[in-house]
Amino acid sequence: MRSSITDGEVLKVGFVGAGTVGTALAVRLFQRGCPVVAVSSRNFSSAQKLARLVADCRVCQTAQEVADAADLIFITTPDDVISEIASEVKWHKGQNVIHCSGAHSIDILEPARRLGANVGSFHPLQTFASVREARDNLPGSTFVVEAEEPLLSRLKELASLLNGNWVELNPGDKVLYHVAAVFVSNYLVTLVKLALDLWQGFGVPPKEAARALLPLLRGTVNNIDNVGLPDCLTGPIARGDLGTISKHLNALEAKNSSLLTTYKDLGFQTIPIALAKGRIDEHKAQELKTLFSLPGTLYEALASCCTTLKGRTTKFGGENFPG
Ligand SMILES: NC(=O)c1ccc[n+]([C@@H]2O[C@H](COP(=O)([O-])OP(=O)(O)OC[C@H]3O[C@@H](n4cnc5c(N)ncnc54)[C@H](OP(=O)(O)O)[C@@H]3O)[C@@H](O)[C@H]2O)c1
Repeated sequence: MRSSITDGEVLKVGFVGAGTVGTALAVRLFQRGCPVVAVSSRNFSSAQKLARLVADCRVCQTAQEVADAADLIFITTPDDVISEIASEVKWHKGQNVIHCSGAHSIDILEPARRLGANVGSFHPLQTFASVREARDNLPGSTFVVEAEEPLLSRLKELASLLNGNWVELNPGDKVLYHVAAVFVSNYLVTLVKLALDLWQGFGVPPKEAARALLPLLRGTVNNIDNVGLPDCLTGPIARGDLGTISKHLNALEAKNSSLLTTYKDLGFQTIPIALAKGRIDEHKAQELKTLFSLPGTLYEALASCCTTLKGRTTKFGGENFPG
């Protein structure tokens, strides 16, 4: 692939902050032909670790040394440190300074802009749990880019160079964009943890529970991808099974009451999806809303009014999963 990042005017890339994102980006960019010339980090050993993964990369003591050696500098520190780095370095005119935060606009780099640098943000919409996973997950990811020209075009080229897509957002929308990422990635982890805890309650260790639940999780993600919303929604809310949901609420109240509010809140948010799928009507949706608003003691009464409940025994190793 021809690119002004690697061809023609060769931009020397530097990193301040050698954590998971910095290291993964440095390795991928290097593999795609970008010269990664300098790195610094809070701990020298982190910078050394990154430098060992790319050829001819100098390990620097300070961010200033990186800024003096590179044309395109990524600040890949925690979000709260970005403005500190932007303020303490003496940037020079024409330099490109980029952060990778999803929640911050480029305004956080104002001190660099005042000194004549081009400032931008390049947020990989991907989860970076470890360097290896991050490197493997990067291709196909979307990058949210923000900058003025000519840096904006360069950031788009960078996204393509990493085999990704790019999207431009209004700076004012970035915080809610980041909230969306938290829902899809971080809170998915939380939901899995809650499910593992429930399994532990009936004696199945987390590792075995994860082995059982992961195919369900993968199947759900596949359905979102292949079937799409709202048709990918299955389960008791999609079917309007009030009796089953009442049993869930009763069981949670009796044994895991701290999860009751979360279950109900997610239930409320799921009703419109079920409606859109068309398996329940407005009347059933209203009944579901009422059920999710009831105080605990009334679930039982409501359950007894509902159609006969089918008991379900779940034994570890069996095939009895919720449909
Ligand atoms: N993790 C993700 O999934 C993800 C996804 C998209 C975007 N991002 C963004 O990417 C950026 C980096 O996140 P990350 O997950 O890579 O964080 P991280 O793994 O915690 O790495 C941050 C690195 O910054 C270094 N650092 C901390 N304070 C510093 C300072 N004062 N000067 C120089 N270096 C300093 C730390 O260095 P030492 O190791 O030397 O102590 C650490 O290695 C953040 O803006 C984040 O919002 C993260």
